[in-house]
Amino acid sequence: MKMFRNTRCRKGNSRKSKSMYAAPAFSLLSVTSFAVYAHDHRGDRDDHKKHKRSNLISEQRLGSELYQDTNLSLNKNQSCASCHSLETVQLFGGKETPAPGFVDPENVATGSPTSRGSVAGKFGSLNSPSAGYAAFSPEFYFDENEGLWIGGQFWNGRAATLEEQAKGPFLNPVEMAMPSKWAVVSELKKNKDYVKSFKNVYGFNLHPVPSSPMAPNDDNAPQ
Ligand code: HEC
Repeated sequence: MKMFRNTRCRKGNSRKSKSMYAAPAFSLLSVTSFAVYAHDHRGDRDDHKKHKRSNLISEQRLGSELYQDTNLSLNKNQSCASCHSLETVQLFGGKETPAPGFVDPENVATGSPTSRGSVAGKFGSLNSPSAGYAAFSPEFYFDENEGLWIGGQFWNGRAATLEEQAKGPFLNPVEMAMPSKWAVVSELKKNKDYVKSFKNVYGFNLHPVPSSPMAPNDDNAPQ
């Protein structure tokens, strides 16, 4: 949970989606399974490899796949786990150390302040915080007694919930840089396991969702 002394919050992007298909697919993708996965891993220090995938329920397994899938970035080179790592980090001199809980291993290894994006040469402007415990952060609010802003997602709390937050990285041009949410959904449809899992876990059929890799960045279904 983050606390902010005497700061004002930026209003979150609460653009309402009108689309019949993209909204459910996209928010299911970004949210539920990741949230379940995040709950399961809530910041523990277990190496991901040690955490047997067979221990995960189907929804967590889906979340884990999505979290580590580089196909969901423009140049197929970046996943959530690139900046919020599950792996150990190699320090100078070859020493391995656990990346402390869902942070950017490059920041740990080299002391770099921000994370590189999917597009070469593009870096974010802020340090990647740990994504551990994020699911437990309450909605951003001002605590009158404490005189503090509390909770929310992102450094400034601009996403009220994990659901809001998790939609951002796919489309952020200095992160996974996908051109539209339709492009993300198209990638999901290419993976038979996702199609099966979305059906089994959420009862959501990805097949009828129209796909277009360069679909416009709005809520209208591509033709
Ligand atoms: C290129 C690096 C990068 C990638 C890829 C990335 N993130 Fe992040 N993440 C960040 C940065 C930087 C912030 C803080 C940004 C801010 O506060 O404006 C952040 C913030 C977060 C937070 C909020 C944590 C908190 O305490 O407020 C969560 C949760 C999160 N990311 C999850 C994800 C998920 C899920 C994905 C994949 C869909 C993802 N991230 C992909 C860099 C990244």
